[in-house]
Amino acid sequence: MIERVIKIIEPKFSEEEKLTVLSILESNQITRGEWTKRFEEEFARYLGVRYAFTVCSGTVALFIALKSVGVEGKRVVVPAMSFMATIDAVLLAGGIPVVVDVDEHYTMDPSQLEDAVKRYHPLVVIPVHLYGQTANMEDIMYLSEKYGFLVLEDAAQAHGASFKGKKAGALGHLSAFSFYASKNVPMGEGGVIATDDDTLAKSIKKWIDFGDHPAFNVRITEFQAAIGYIQLKRLDERNKRRRDIAQKYNEHFNGSLTAPTERPNAYHVYHLYTLRHQERDRIIKHLRDMGIDARVYYSYLLNEIRKVDHLPLDRAESFRKEVFSIPVHPYLTEDEINYVIEGVLSAINTIMEKT
Ligand SMILES: Cc1ncc(COP(=O)(O)O)c(C=O)c1O
Repeated sequence: MIERVIKIIEPKFSEEEKLTVLSILESNQITRGEWTKRFEEEFARYLGVRYAFTVCSGTVALFIALKSVGVEGKRVVVPAMSFMATIDAVLLAGGIPVVVDVDEHYTMDPSQLEDAVKRYHPLVVIPVHLYGQTANMEDIMYLSEKYGFLVLEDAAQAHGASFKGKKAGALGHLSAFSFYASKNVPMGEGGVIATDDDTLAKSIKKWIDFGDHPAFNVRITEFQAAIGYIQLKRLDERNKRRRDIAQKYNEHFNGSLTAPTERPNAYHVYHLYTLRHQERDRIIKHLRDMGIDARVYYSYLLNEIRKVDHLPLDRAESFRKEVFSIPVHPYLTEDEINYVIEGVLSAINTIMEKT
């Protein structure tokens, strides 16, 4: 009998969200109102860019971003490790994906990116800020200038992360965010395409505003925008809490498992706290038996699920057999954090005894 369940993902809403949602219902302005405008302005301001366009999901944000740069028939480089939406958006938009390996931080390996760029001449490169940490944007932007490709950041897991003081989502030419229920800013569903570039902004608008150009209705409702706006106010504080929990985990796990490390000059926001161990499946079972939700993000590589061209993927092949994530959400109590630590360490002890 499990006494408790510690969930890996746990969005929480306060009186402020509840009252605001009620007030929107009473106002009858349930779409295309002030909240959407306010959220877009506030999110752009938070990132430090001029434009943030809300759309209905992170997948659609990636898709529209790719459509807006005219990706049809063009090569697009993506990393091997990500949620499948990253590659599906490329395929749906008519791009031709090329998959490259990751570095030791689980994000796109810039040296292999250069090999891929020389061989495939991509129009777009999509670094994914996986688990809440930015990719090596310094090297990727250097290569972008050298070879002239566009950089679309997949920042779906990295609200509030930064690199050299600049926010994830403001480091490339354009970026895509998700506000799915599990994300660091949850709305239920939702997305944003952000950019600081006037020409790109105009092009994005064509795809989402009905007019001369064929467009999609990808709007969010006022309820979602208001929830996002309120959640955004607490983002920094909640990310800080995630970091403190991660720090405590690191102190206990380093040595027995491979704990996540922070890239120099990067601010990791621990959307997921991901460890590595050869006996990953046994650890997950042990944790689940204790009522601790542990999961694998992701057991597949993007080139496998969608059969596309790829370079050698030695790191990703090895990592995906060993990665697993444990709860790190900001609402964990000290007691729960200690219980998770106890769970992981007891799993390791049990494995050591049996081998
Ligand atoms: C890295 C990554 N890219 C894209 C997406 C797609 O976002 P959505 O679920 O809002 O469509 C997600 C999350 O779900 C994600 O984690």
